[in-house]
Amino acid sequence: MKKKELEIMLQSLSGFEKPKAWLEQYMTPPNVAADIIFLAYHLRDIKNKEIADLGAGTGIFSIGACVLGAKKIKAVEIDEDAINVMKRNLDTFQCENVDIYQMSVNDFSCNVGTVLQNPPFGSQRKHADLPFLEKAIRIGKVIYTLHNAVTIEFLERKIGDLKGVITHKIPYKFFIPRIYEFHRKEKVRRELVLLRIESGKIK
Ligand SMILES: C[S@@+](CC[C@H](N)C(=O)[O-])C[C@H]1O[C@@H](n2cnc3c(N)ncnc32)[C@H](O)[C@@H]1O
Repeated sequence: MKKKELEIMLQSLSGFEKPKAWLEQYMTPPNVAADIIFLAYHLRDIKNKEIADLGAGTGIFSIGACVLGAKKIKAVEIDEDAINVMKRNLDTFQCENVDIYQMSVNDFSCNVGTVLQNPPFGSQRKHADLPFLEKAIRIGKVIYTLHNAVTIEFLERKIGDLKGVITHKIPYKFFIPRIYEFHRKEKVRRELVLLRIESGKIK
């Protein structure tokens, strides 16, 4: 499959019906998600791997990983409404190797080969991405994680403290739709950074 084909596939997914601001719910743009999943695929972090999709939302990373041959995917999401949309998306793509865990990432504890995540940035609650980062490094061998670019220096220190090693740092810019009451514009442009981290775990 080509990256463009995956992107087109992911464009057909249903998104959040009533996004919840306090959970920072928005869907990763399909071109960005396809890019990340393809990078992971080429670095041998997807095919036949056990994957955790933390804060899975409506399932874009889980479905991308499923389509590219992941062995098993654990989709962790706290919000039931998002999970209902994710279930429909999984049915559409006949992804039968995705198990849904309705819980907080704080309570999830299965070890996996690869973690994929686009955590809340902390625009509602400062450092809301930290529990995701800490959990991902604790359970995963390799982590792909998207963050607000302005926090990079803080994140680098934190990842060092957690004994993670950043192998890739890729900037992205994309628009987030106007889902929060405090946004006055229709879309808000965000500068993000994707980090690929190796935790040093053996699994
Ligand atoms: C920015 S959205 C990303 C959704 C999806 N992964 C994507 O890339 O389209 C963040 C997701 O994390 C979920 N979330 C927020 N806090 C959570 C927590 N403590 N445990 C599990 N999920 C959480 C939200 O409900 C939301 O679906």
